[in-house]
Amino acid sequence: MKVPTNPADAVLSNLADQLSEQGYAHWDDFLDGQEVAHLRKEVDRFFQEGAFKEAGIGQGQGFQQNKAVRSDHIYWLDHRNASDSFSFFFARLQNLIDYLNQSCYLGIRDMEMHLALYPVGAFYKRHLDVFKQSSGRILSVICYLNDHWQADEGGQLRIYFPPTDTDTEERYIDLLPQGGRLVFFLSDQLEHEVLPARRARYSITGWMKKEHFL
Ligand code: OGA
Ligand code: MN
Repeated sequence: MKVPTNPADAVLSNLADQLSEQGYAHWDDFLDGQEVAHLRKEVDRFFQEGAFKEAGIGQGQGFQQNKAVRSDHIYWLDHRNASDSFSFFFARLQNLIDYLNQSCYLGIRDMEMHLALYPVGAFYKRHLDVFKQSSGRILSVICYLNDHWQADEGGQLRIYFPPTDTDTEERYIDLLPQGGRLVFFLSDQLEHEVLPARRARYSITGWMKKEHFL
């Protein structure tokens, strides 16, 4: 294994190890407080302009809106033509992906990302991010844009782990949607859900994909 030469390398190699060992990883200061506040303002602006839509489930002809399953609002970003506000985010994400492609042989060549806003009370029931039709999704990535999120405000991302022979109970981990935190996990392996949030919950959410699907 490559010996890390600076702290950034050590952070990246640690994330790659977590991903290989557990199928998920989180990077808690992917963005700093100022960057989070700036991007959250952009999300508010898009929302006020009416750019967001109620999210659905499935793709193409299988698409349906089902408010019993999820109740967030989304706005798709074009990462190839990102506005100045988001271009630094995509550049930083690409840097991480380049590293993971090299160290974990993920073969990621494209991405699709949207902004997500969960109004008070919104949730996303337990699901897997890969639909029946092949979606090319390899890695699910979420970056949170919330200020000082408290545990009693709900909105946790709950990731469930596949059962092992020694488990007596299902294992899961709850991650708070802390501003600046980036979480990523294997899209076709880990079921997860978003618990109801007691406060508006902001994120950039997306999928790193095998190839470019039109
Ligand atoms: C999703 C999803 C998790 C989160 O959008 O598919 O699972 O923490 N989001 O926002
Ligand atoms: Mn999901």
